Parts: sequence; structure tokens; C-alpha cells
Amino acid sequence: MTVKNLIPDVRPAPLCWPAWQSLQARANAGVPHLRHLLTDPNRHTLSATAEGTGIRLDYSRQAIDDWVLTQLLALAEQAGVARQRTAMFHGEAINTTEQRAVLHVALRGHAGATGHDAPWGATVQQQVHTELDRVCHFASAVRQGQVRGCTGQAFTDVVNIGIGGSDLGPRMATDALAHLCTPPGAAGLRVHYVSNPDAWALHSVLAGLNPLTTLVVVASKTFTTQETMTNAASARRWLADGGVTGEAQSQHLVAITAAPQRSAAAGYPAAHTFTFWDWVGGRYSVWSALGLPLALAIGPEAFHDFLAGAQAMDHHFVSAPPALNLPMLLALLGVWNRNFLNCPTQLVSTYPSRLARFAPFVQQMDMESNGKRVQKNGQACPTATGPIVWGGLGIDGQHAYFQLLHQGTHRVPVEFIGVLSDDTPLPLAAEHHRVVNLNLRAQAQALAVGRTEADTVKALLAEGLDEASAQAMAAQRSFEGNVPSSLIWLDALTPRTLGALIALYEHKVFTQAAIWGINAYDQWGVELGKTMAKAMEHGAAVCR
Ligand code: F6P
Repeated sequence: MTVKNLIPDVRPAPLCWPAWQSLQARANAGVPHLRHLLTDPNRHTLSATAEGTGIRLDYSRQAIDDWVLTQLLALAEQAGVARQRTAMFHGEAINTTEQRAVLHVALRGHAGATGHDAPWGATVQQQVHTELDRVCHFASAVRQGQVRGCTGQAFTDVVNIGIGGSDLGPRMATDALAHLCTPPGAAGLRVHYVSNPDAWALHSVLAGLNPLTTLVVVASKTFTTQETMTNAASARRWLADGGVTGEAQSQHLVAITAAPQRSAAAGYPAAHTFTFWDWVGGRYSVWSALGLPLALAIGPEAFHDFLAGAQAMDHHFVSAPPALNLPMLLALLGVWNRNFLNCPTQLVSTYPSRLARFAPFVQQMDMESNGKRVQKNGQACPTATGPIVWGGLGIDGQHAYFQLLHQGTHRVPVEFIGVLSDDTPLPLAAEHHRVVNLNLRAQAQALAVGRTEADTVKALLAEGLDEASAQAMAAQRSFEGNVPSSLIWLDALTPRTLGALIALYEHKVFTQAAIWGINAYDQWGVELGKTMAKAMEHGAAVCR
């Protein structure tokens, strides 16, 4: 008798929830085409703003109607999302396989200015503030030349060595806020990032720098990641070869880690060691000491604004009603597209060029969190879970893979991200901005409504084709449409709106995991590759 027979035949959530079953029936019956749904004069009401964050969500081009939306909101209710959200904010061990709290929300402080303790408690609050003060004080001292290299020269360059969550967040944010960083050629502090252990990645950064004025930051939660340790050893050799040796080297070294005993054993000075806690997941750590390179790049004041933006989104997430709650709405629309319209991927398409690294950042956050097939109860999840998240700059994508979106055989939901105002100091910047946002809006509309064969024939005739040619070309030149998309609009690209945008995605991922019943905060899936590499390193035989 196998154990399996002992398991009562109870369909595990979410299949047994009434809302899930209603949505499944509706999806099977079919939802009207978006070109029909968009004729509704009230369609524009499918939008919501997160007060105080500078972010608005327009989801009018998602393949839903009021009934579907109502059922999705009921699904969140039946999944107990609110209860699970409270558990997270109160520091319960919701990361069940590691028995850890998940408190990246604590890193950006508590919105409630009423003086009562944050839900995570005064102890955590104090720990966070103490380390944040150290980080900001150090960043300020380096930027102002009070902390200097071993020859007394101020630092001109910072090289952050880390990978995954120890790289993607700070690197993305530094690029996104480039307008606040030292411009090329100007005096000041430049921050560089190296993640890949391929020698060229480090060489191409170090080659142009002066060891005597370079600060090497080694960022690693575990301080064991082979890629990072490889790069760190090489960077320390570069310092030594450049005359920064022995004790003097400690003036050029910084460690950021949750394992300070390891960094100390490796010779990193305590005064330059900044720590965070095991309840901070790597992909959720940009708010912690791991944000030091960002604070060095944009300054402590702007870093505080970045934290405040995330805090404002946290406040929105815990206080806005579900029907107006941007993270909830984004999550539920993702569940509708993933589980009911059976779209296996999610495209994140950013239109501001400074957000070029946002999609790779969200890729780790979403896919390393929700790329799980087993629920918290140990059962195989009966539904699909995290989508394949991909993307990049939208305008460049239009000239690369949008063909597939428009006429391919995949239905790919899109999250467009744009900014409503741009202050790039270029004489014709307003025209650039107009062209960029015109394209964003046009793509969302074209993907939604498409063009029927009948309308295509009319268009081809208008181009001067004869009837026979127009009919012959109609199939190749028509567009299915009905591709769902959301438009996420930032008032402008600032530390505050960027912080809010990241928190929006963090809470989207949380909400989807809460519905699927999976643990978004461990990452056992990355372990096998690491252990395989170690075994092979020590000569284990492998099948060719
Ligand atoms: O990809 C696996 C992972 O553990 C990520 O979760 C993490 O952000 C990255 O590797 C780097 O880990 P560490 O910060 O410990 O070097």
C-alpha cells in the first residue's frame, strides 16, 4: 500500500475555492475580445493610483470584464491574502522551509507616524535604523572625501562585487537614477558593478581604474558564493599589484554580508563591514546594507527618498481596499493570465532607457520566488505557478521581438512601464519623450485591438493594392490582437517612484505566492547546481 492511498482525496487549494472554479468556467466559456471590451465607455475606470507613490496602474487592456474582476478579488479573499500579508508584516516565519521571517518591509521603516511600534516590533526597528545610519554615514564620508585610500587620496571609484540579489537591485537602481550620479568625466565618485566570474567582466572594469583611489565592496549575504569570492580574490590581487598591500588594503575594502564572521576571517575590517539579517532575502535586499553602493552613487538623502517610496507603497498595500490596491490588482491579473488564459510567460517592457535593467531585476525577484512546484504543505501544487518573466527596453523590443507578440502563436501579456514626465537636459528632450510614450501607448492599443482581415483588406486597397492582391495578402497582414497589457505610469523617474515601483513588484510576487500556496522566500532550486559544481571540482565522475 503506497502512502499515496492514505492521502484523503481532498483537492488542495486553490482548485477547491469557489472563485477559482467560477473563473475556470468563465475562461472555458471565453471572454469577449479586447477590441469589443474597449468599446465600453467606462473602460477607463479600470485604473488605480497608489496615493503618495507617484504610480498609476491602467489595466483597461487586460482581458477581463467587471465579473471576472469581482471573482479575482473574491479569489484573493478566499486565498486569505490579507491574513498572510499581516503575518509577513508581523515577522511570522512565513519562509517555512528555512523557518525565517520575511521582513524586507522593515528595512524601509514604518509608515505609521503615529508613534506606535511597527508591526515587526521595536527591536527589529532599532536594528534596522542603527545599521542604516552606519551605511549612510559611511556613504557620506566617502563621498565627501573624509574616508580616503591608503595614500590619503579621496576615492574616485567604487567597485561592487556581488551576484544575484547582491548585484541586480543596486545595479539596476544606480542605472535608473543615473541623473543623480557623477557624470562621466566629472570629478566625483563613480560606482561600478561586477557580477560574472568571467575574467573579462572584472578586467574591463578595473583596467581603467587607479587602485590607490578605488574602494572594493564585496557584497554577499552568505560570503561563500564562489563567483563572488573568485572576483573578490582577483580584485584584492589587483589592489596589491597596484601598491595597496597588507594592512593598508583594509582601507580599500568593504564587506556587506549577513555572515560577518566569514568576512572578518577573510580579512575585511569590522569598521568597513555592514551587515543585514537572515530575514532579508537576497532578491529583496536592495533596501538593506546591500544598498550601500547605491547610497554611494546617489547620496544618503536620495537613498532615504528611495526607502520612503517603498514605504509609501507598503502603506498602500496594507491599507488600500483590494479593488484599488495596485500590488493586489497586478497579482490577480497575472494569475488570470497565467492560470486561466494559460499564458506561460510575462513580458516586462520598460520605456525609459534608464530602466534597462529593471526586467532582469524583476526576473530574479519573480522567478526565484515563484518558480516553485511544491506548496508549503509539501503537496505538488495543482495549478501552474510563476510565469517565465522576460523583457527589456520596449522601444528596442519593438525592433526585435514584438513581431512575435503581434503575429506569433504565443499570447504574451505585457506590463508596460513608462514615465509621464522627463527632465533629461537635452534641448529636444520633449520630442524624445513624446515619441517614446506615443510608442508605448500605440503598442498597447495595437496588441489589444489588432486588425481583422476585413479591415486589413480595406487598408491594403487604400495602399493601392488591387482586390485580388489585397485578399491574397490579408492573412499575412492581419493581426489577431487580444493581447492583454497593463500600463504602469510613474509621474517621473525619481528615487521615490523607483522605490515604490520595486515594492509594487515585491508585493505582487507575495500575493501570487499566497494564492498558489507556495513559499516565495526560499531558493532550494539553486543548490543542486552548486553542489554539482563542487563535486565535479573534486573529481566526481559525470556522464558526458
Ligand atoms: O541565486 C542564488 C542566490 O543565493 C540568490 O538568492 C542570491 O541573491 C545570490 O545567489 C547571491 O548570494 P550571496 O548574496 O549569498 O552571495
